[in-house]
Amino acid sequence: MPTIEQPVQSPLSADLQAILSCLSCGSKLESDQAAGYVCPSCKRAYPNVQGIARFVDAQHYAASFGFQWHRYQTTQLDNEELRESERHFLAKTALRPDDLRGKLVLDVGCGMGRFAEVATRWGARVVGVDLSAAAEVAAKNLADRDFTAFQADVFALPFAPESFDVIYSIGVLHHTPDCEAAVKTLDKYLKPGGLLVVWLYSGYNKWYRFSDFWRRYTHKMKPETLHGILKFAVPFFYNLNQGLKRVPLVGSPLAGAIHHVFPVNRQKNPEARMLDTFDWYSPKYQSKHTYEQVFRWYEAMGMEDMHVGEISIAVRGRKPPRGR
Ligand SMILES: C[S@@+](CC[C@H](N)C(=O)[O-])C[C@H]1O[C@@H](n2cnc3c(N)ncnc32)[C@H](O)[C@@H]1O
Repeated sequence: MPTIEQPVQSPLSADLQAILSCLSCGSKLESDQAAGYVCPSCKRAYPNVQGIARFVDAQHYAASFGFQWHRYQTTQLDNEELRESERHFLAKTALRPDDLRGKLVLDVGCGMGRFAEVATRWGARVVGVDLSAAAEVAAKNLADRDFTAFQADVFALPFAPESFDVIYSIGVLHHTPDCEAAVKTLDKYLKPGGLLVVWLYSGYNKWYRFSDFWRRYTHKMKPETLHGILKFAVPFFYNLNQGLKRVPLVGSPLAGAIHHVFPVNRQKNPEARMLDTFDWYSPKYQSKHTYEQVFRWYEAMGMEDMHVGEISIAVRGRKPPRGR
């Protein structure tokens, strides 16, 4: 049995607890004090471990993300000077503060909580779910916010139907075994009139071909081993790239060719560079998508009022209000 440690999260408010549902029979869950939640009908229990309610028994294929977000807990978190995650949130969701203020919002695959940080700053009440142990990091990062994290799988969410005003998922569903099914499963949890926003990797630009080739091998490595290799490879290829660019005539094409075959992230911040390169090479699943595909999925769900964001593939739609 896992040990129950000091909770990092406050107890759930009554209205949040009212939407928690048993994964086996759908009954409303009851709080079992600090131990977690229990189903009064079928008696299935969901333990609280380190203050986080766990609706999965393991991280499954997402263990590399658990490692990643424990290793880089705050690298991408906005602060007084830096508003990079907010810029991404705007470009990848096309949501504005007015869309979120006072709303109950679900962040699917919240990672360490950088986008929930933005949404709560804009006045939303956010529930974050993540399949990996990243849920622990998000809870810690956002302990002073209107935020609750659960460790849960998008394919088995512990919520009653039509619970949320807005659901967003940024950079997550292409990392599941079936992106289309993952997108379509979210419709059920959205209130009529609510917004569903997803951001997925783009299939238009083929820059990633070689990283996909290497990933066939790298995703099988232990996260610690891959991270150890990248600690040398990322600075090596980055510095080689920068150095070659200074060589007249042949330098730039050569740098481009090497980058094409051994892609590493080229952000200025070395820590962000490591994090994003690890994020490319570690996941087991990483599908790419087009607007045509995602629009068809939204159409099948009956979504209306469609928008695209600035950075592909960003799609937002509205579930039709009741009675139409
Ligand atoms: C690339 S990270 C993105 C995290 C966050 N949205 C962000 O952009 O910072 C992908 C996240 O999706 C989570 N994830 C993958 N499959 C999932 C699933 N089936 N259910 C819930 N979360 C999942 C991973 O654990 C990981 O934290």
